[in-house]
Amino acid sequence: MKKTYKIATIPGDGTGPEVTREAVKVLHAIAPKYDFGIDLHEYDIGGDRYLKKGEILPDSVVEELRGYDSILLGAIGHPDVKPGILEKGILLRLRFELDQYINLRPVKLFPGVETPLKDKGPEHIDYVVIRENSGDVYCGAGGFTMKGTPHETAVQTGIYTRYQVDRCLKYAYEYTRKRAKRNTLALCGKTNVLTYMYDLWERAFHEMGKAQYPEIQRDYYHVDATCMWMVKSPEWFDVIVTGNMFGDIITDLAAITQGGMGIAAGGNINPEGVSMFEPIGGSAPKYTGKGVINPLAAICSAQMMLDHLGETEAASKIEAAVMEITGKKLKSLSAGKMGYSTSEVGDLVCSLVS
Ligand code: IPM
Ligand code: MN
Repeated sequence: MKKTYKIATIPGDGTGPEVTREAVKVLHAIAPKYDFGIDLHEYDIGGDRYLKKGEILPDSVVEELRGYDSILLGAIGHPDVKPGILEKGILLRLRFELDQYINLRPVKLFPGVETPLKDKGPEHIDYVVIRENSGDVYCGAGGFTMKGTPHETAVQTGIYTRYQVDRCLKYAYEYTRKRAKRNTLALCGKTNVLTYMYDLWERAFHEMGKAQYPEIQRDYYHVDATCMWMVKSPEWFDVIVTGNMFGDIITDLAAITQGGMGIAAGGNINPEGVSMFEPIGGSAPKYTGKGVINPLAAICSAQMMLDHLGETEAASKIEAAVMEITGKKLKSLSAGKMGYSTSEVGDLVCSLVS
């Protein structure tokens, strides 16, 4: 029987609406081919609404979003709004309220895409980072004392509970098993300095792996070394699991090795709830409205969404189309240098999937 997915879109700021439009176009093009329906509702959330109405993210919207199958986000960030307000008030708030405790970041170099890594090609760069998305220094614990005096202190505390660590590790092991590529899960930590937090992670990692996933090889890297190997030998990696802060940092490094903001997408996942998918590029205000921004990252985020919803064949079809376009059509992934406009790139994907 035909299934219809109820999807909320938050196009957001800057070029967010332009790239989201193309992702939506692709969803509408592919849905009939794979016999599913898409029921879209757009939410006007972002910098413009905040500047006009003083409203960041109304509680009623958060409640409504709980009723969707998934959320597609464009970009959050406005040049006239102080950095941090929208990120905290929209992106981080949704992650926390909807308990999207996994940040899933595939790192895959597509054909024809330039990587800054010397002598590396698509056969070397194909791994996934699973970043814990609910704890660590992102939890907001901390404060100042004696603020504004020469003796001011600032404390920002990273917190992990065993529950948070275990549920993330379970997702990571299951993901590694399902991916069935090299059956290797690497924990990225800092057990030599963060002797409490990553001690907990390391113990939990080995306990779970030994007891429940004996067929999966377990590796461990300190975060600094992880960065080095991501540049030198990315082919070593299959799946990496790490905490929130390290995950934030290493996934930007990873993104640039796969061609950067024009292509990198991610998912904020609640395996038992409502997940949210986004291109990780940001709102790129200087390109807004020009029709030159690359929509492939947004299209890849829609692809991840379909995969997550269980429409795996449709998702593979979109990925194949994107690979064909990067390999055979686009001159570059950069805004204004693609050789096509934003909507032409969307049309190319549509023509290949429908
Ligand atoms: C990301 C971003 C966010 C984060 C910011 C915008 C709060 O950098 O999704 O990686 O730090 O998680
Ligand atoms: Mn980040």
